[in-house]
Parts: sequence; C-alpha cells; structure tokens
Amino acid sequence: MKRVVFLVFTWSLAALFVISWWVDATREWTRIQAAFFKTLAKAERRGLTGGIKQLLVTDLKRVDRCTTCHLAIDKPQLALAEEPFTAHPGKFLEWHPVEKFGCTVCHGGQGLATEAAAAHGDVPHWEEPLLRGALVQAACAQCHGDLAPIARHVPALIQGHALFKAKGCSGCHAVRDVGQTVSQDLTEVGSKSYLLLEADFEMIPPPAASPKATRRPPDGDRRHAAEPTGGGMMGPPHNRIHWFMSKLGHPRALNPGVRADKLPPGEEEVFPSAMPHFGLRPDEVHAVTVYLLSLTSANPPASYVTKAPPEPARTYASPVEQGKAVFERLGCAGCHGPGGFGGRHNWNAGSGEEVPPLLYVKAYYGSDVDSLKALIRNGRQPVPRADPVRPNPSLYMPAWKDRLTDEELDALIAYLFSLADDLPPPASSPAPAS
Ligand code: HEC
Ligand code: HEC
Ligand code: HEC
Ligand code: HEC
Ligand code: HEC
Repeated sequence: MKRVVFLVFTWSLAALFVISWWVDATREWTRIQAAFFKTLAKAERRGLTGGIKQLLVTDLKRVDRCTTCHLAIDKPQLALAEEPFTAHPGKFLEWHPVEKFGCTVCHGGQGLATEAAAAHGDVPHWEEPLLRGALVQAACAQCHGDLAPIARHVPALIQGHALFKAKGCSGCHAVRDVGQTVSQDLTEVGSKSYLLLEADFEMIPPPAASPKATRRPPDGDRRHAAEPTGGGMMGPPHNRIHWFMSKLGHPRALNPGVRADKLPPGEEEVFPSAMPHFGLRPDEVHAVTVYLLSLTSANPPASYVTKAPPEPARTYASPVEQGKAVFERLGCAGCHGPGGFGGRHNWNAGSGEEVPPLLYVKAYYGSDVDSLKALIRNGRQPVPRADPVRPNPSLYMPAWKDRLTDEELDALIAYLFSLADDLPPPASSPAPAS
C-alpha cells in the first residue's frame, strides 16, 4: 500500500513538472521571446537574457512589463519591422528614459500583465485602454503644462483643445473651474470609469471589425488615422476611448431618452440627450477624444512637471472683438450655435423647441439694454414650455454674473448687437416669431 501511494505521488509530481514546463514554454511571452532571439546573430545575443522584464518606476508608482515582449523598443540596432519588435518611433525614449518613465505613463494599458491582450487593456474590467498612435498625445499634458515647446509632437491634442473652445463645450461643461454646470464636470473625465459615464454601453453600436495590425511605414502620417480600439473582443469594447468617440459622433444615440408611450401611464417621458450634435468630422472627433483623454486625475511628482505659463494679458482692437473673445471663452456657442446662429434643439422649449439664435438681439433689446444685461447676468431657468403637460426643456439660459466683469458684459453686448450686421436688410427679413 505504502508503495502504491509513493508511486502515485512521484508520478503526479513528474506530471506536474511536465505540465508546468509545457505551460511555461507555450506562454505568449516565451514564444515571442523565442521568436525574437531566433532573429539575432550570436554576437547580438550577448548580454541579453530571457524571462519577464520589469521596469520599476517608483516615482510614478508604476511597474511595467511591456519590454518583456517589446524587446527592441530602446535598441534600434536590433529592431525588426514587425510589432512587438520595432524600435520606438521618434526620440521619445531619449527624452523620457525607460528607467525613469516606463511605458504606461504615456501609453496606458496594464503594466503588470504578461499577455498582450491584457497588457493592451483589451480585456473586460480593465479601465485603462492602450493609447495607440496619436491617442498617446493625451498623456503629455499631465507633465507638460506648457504645450508650446512640444507643440510639434501634439497636433491632435492642440486641435482637440481648440475645438473644445470653438464649439462652446464649456457652455455646459466645466473643466477646472472654467465653464458652466449645466451638465457634468469634465475636469477628470479622462480617468472616469466607463461604468460611470452618463450612458449605457448597450447603446453603443459594436465597432467595425478592427483591421489586424499591419505594419505601417515608420514615418507615415498616421496621426489622424482611426485607431483600432480593442480589436478581437466580442461586442463593444469596454473602454472610454470608444465611448467618447461614439458620444461625440452621435450624442443622442447614447442617450436616446424614453418616449411617453413606452412608459407606464403617469410616468414622465425622458427627453433624448440635450448635448447638441456638433457635426464633427472623424478627425475632429478623434482630436476632441484626445483632449478629453488628457483630462485626468494624474498627479505626477513636481520633478516631472513643467508648469503652464500665466495667460498673457490680451488687448483688443475694439469692444466687439473683446466681446467675441468673451462669447468664445464662456461657451455661448454650445447652446446658441457658432456666431449665435442657432439651430440647437431644446425639447419642448416654447421658442420653437430650439435655443433661440442671437441674431435678433439688437432688434429685441436694442432699446432696453438693462433687461438684456439682467437676462445675461441672471439667466432664465426653466424656460417656458411649448406643451405644459410635457416636462421642462433640458436646456436653460444659465446665469453668468459670477463669470464676467461689467466691462466684459458691455463688450459681449456690443458683440451680440454686431451680429445683426450679418442679417439681410430689414425689408427682406421675416419678422422673427417671439
Ligand atoms: C505578451 C507580449 C506583449 C506585452 C506584455 C505587451 N505587448 Fe504591446 N504588442 C505585442 C504584440 C504582439 C503587438 C503587435 C500586435 C498588436 O497590435 O496587438 C503589440 C503592439 C503594441 C503597440 C502598437 C499597436 C499598434 O497599433 O500597432 C503598442 C503601442 C504596444 N504594443 C504597447 C504596449 C505597452 C504599453 C505594453 C505594456 C503595458 C505592452 N505593449 C505589452 C505584444 C505585447
Ligand atoms: C513620453 C511618452 C512615451 C513613453 C514613455 C513611451 N512611449 Fe511609445 N510612443 C509615444 C509616442 C508619442 C509615439 C508615437 C505615436 C505616433 O505618433 O504614432 C509612440 C509610439 C509607440 C509605438 C509604435 C506604435 C504606435 O502606437 O504608434 C510602440 C510599439 C510604443 N510606442 C511602445 C512603447 C513602449 C513599449 C514603451 C515603454 C518602453 C513606450 N512606448 C514608452 C510616447 C511614449
Ligand atoms: C511623466 C511626465 C511626462 C510625460 C507623461 C511626458 N513628458 Fe515629455 N518630458 C518630461 C520631462 C521631465 C522632460 C525633460 C524636461 C527637460 O529636460 O527640461 C521631458 C522632455 C520632453 C521633450 C524634450 C524637450 C526638450 O526641450 O528637449 C519633448 C519633445 C517631450 N518631452 C515631449 C513629450 C510628448 C510629446 C509627450 C506625450 C507623448 C510627453 N513628452 C510626455 C516629462 C514628461
Ligand atoms: C448644450 C449643452 C451641452 C454642450 C454644449 C455639450 N454637452 Fe456634453 N453633455 C451634455 C449633457 C446634457 C450630457 C449628459 C449626458 C447626456 O444627456 O447626453 C453630456 C455629457 C457629456 C460627456 C459625458 C460626461 C460624463 O461624465 O458622463 C462628455 C465626455 C461630453 N458631454 C463632452 C462634450 C464635449 C467634448 C462637448 C463639446 C464638443 C460637449 N460635451 C458639449 C450637454 C452638453
Ligand atoms: C446651456 C445653454 C445656454 C448657454 C450656454 C447660453 N444660453 Fe443664452 N439662452 C439659452 C436658452 C434656452 C434661452 C431661451 C430663454 C427663453 O426662452 O426665455 C437663451 C436666451 C438667451 C438670450 C435671449 C434671446 C432672445 O431671443 O430673447 C440671450 C441674449 C442669450 N441667451 C445670450 C447668451 C449669451 C451671451 C451666452 C454666453 C455668455 C449664452 N446665452 C449662453 C440657453 C443658453
């Protein structure tokens, strides 16, 4: 009996040993390392070892194992044309040595993982997606408070920030105390869990099958190319990159509301999203996504950070020009359209279910500037309803009194009055309905 137990025991030990050897030998990273070493001449192999590689960056609280597979990332002389064996593009690793920065501080992903899908964040329950291609520009702002010296390397981030201003996103959203509180504060939206974003992933259409990674020319212009955002997974990938892109492309598709006839009697209908459809081109959606991803809670140590320079005091040629800058800074265009042109939908609003255009402000208020000032200072909430049985319109005129000086208000009004100049002469213009 003892003998049988002993035999079973030794055989299972041997079996375990074989299994663990086999599991090890067929691990993704062991196969990748074997494939890489096979390409090297004997002399090139000297000094290189296999096994899991780890970059321990205590200052940034990161442990990154990316170089387990990306073996030539900082060794251009050994690099191949195929991922993961390429050398890093540009001089980024010279400026940011791997021992001091690691990889995930710029690229996101999952530092500790040793399987590609997990490391690249393409797995459920991992919140930090890999930032590929131009999306990686989102990472730069956490340290480079001053983007001017690195502007050449961050065109998408700069374009995204400019669009955020031009489209008037801050008319509804605040970023670091700048902007209205009509909707969510976006200061840290780039770190927000996708589970907490204001929409349901079920509403997102599944992504088009992402092309299998093909090698692109090393200097090819891929900055504005669409990024695959998590290939290989079933259904919509659970990451905020895809969420932002979907939301910006089709704001209402993610928050379609609930019609009254779909609800039990007595319950109030829910209007579709009040966030306007901005008609952004795909490259613009991409750029704004880069900007949103840059709004994180990351707080690297001071030794890594360059501070933003103070805003230079601006001078304006005329009050109208100053007023235009105030209009842009406050995000009036978010609700009233670029140049106050109108066209933003506002469900059940008395003013034709739209936020009114501002082209007629001079006609209405030209002789009563005080009530115009009062309206801008105090706002109007809620706005009158078209149908008193249906809920209040989602958009209202916010109060601006804490956000502009008296001088700026005068300039803003001068600008609003100037908008009438763009209208056709009075004889041919239809009287605006009130
Ligand atoms: C288990 C091996 C493995 C690990 C670990 C790994 N990668 Fe990769 N990586 C690959 C392979 C294989 C590819 C090429 C195929 C692909 O894109 O998935 C690749 C491609 C990439 C690309 C290029 C994507 C593209 O669009 O061409 C980036 C960027 C990248 N990895 C970053 C990282 C970062 C950052 C980490 C660490 C968090 C990491 N990788 C960890 C295997 C790995
Ligand atoms: C300072 C930020 C920074 C760090 C740190 C960094 N990268 Fe990059 N990485 C970039 C930028 C910028 C690009 C170029 C993106 C573009 O314009 O296509 C890039 C490109 C790449 C690419 C080519 C594929 C692609 O997505 O364009 C790979 C692969 C890659 N990085 C892997 C790594 C790995 C592995 C590490 C860690 C050893 C690392 N990177 C560290 C910023 C960084
Ligand atoms: C974790 C902080 C951090 C991140 C993230 C980061 N950088 Fe840097 N970067 C630095 C530091 C620190 C230096 C060195 C500054 C110095 O030497 O004055 C530097 C240097 C540079 C330089 C060289 C500047 C010079 O004058 O020589 C460039 C260019 C640059 N970074 C671009 C980028 C880009 C593009 C990104 C995003 C892909 C990025 N950095 C992400 C911290 C960071
Ligand atoms: C007229 C008001 C309005 C404007 C202007 C506006 N949004 Fe929104 N936004 C909303 C509302 C309302 C929501 C809440 C979800 C919903 O109902 O769609 C929202 C949600 C979001 C969210 C999700 C935030 C979260 O934490 O869940 C993001 C990101 C966002 N908006 C980005 C933008 C960007 C970028 C712009 C400018 C291009 C913009 N928004 C302009 C009204 C607006
Ligand atoms: C969150 C959306 C929103 C933002 C941002 C916004 N408004 Fe309004 N505004 C409205 C709505 C809705 C009305 C309609 C009020 C009503 O029906 O009584 C309105 C009305 C007005 C009117 C009166 C128009 C008329 O025809 O009577 C003026 C003038 C005006 N807004 C100026 C501004 C200015 C200037 C800004 C920027 C500082 C601004 N608004 C930002 C939503 C907004």
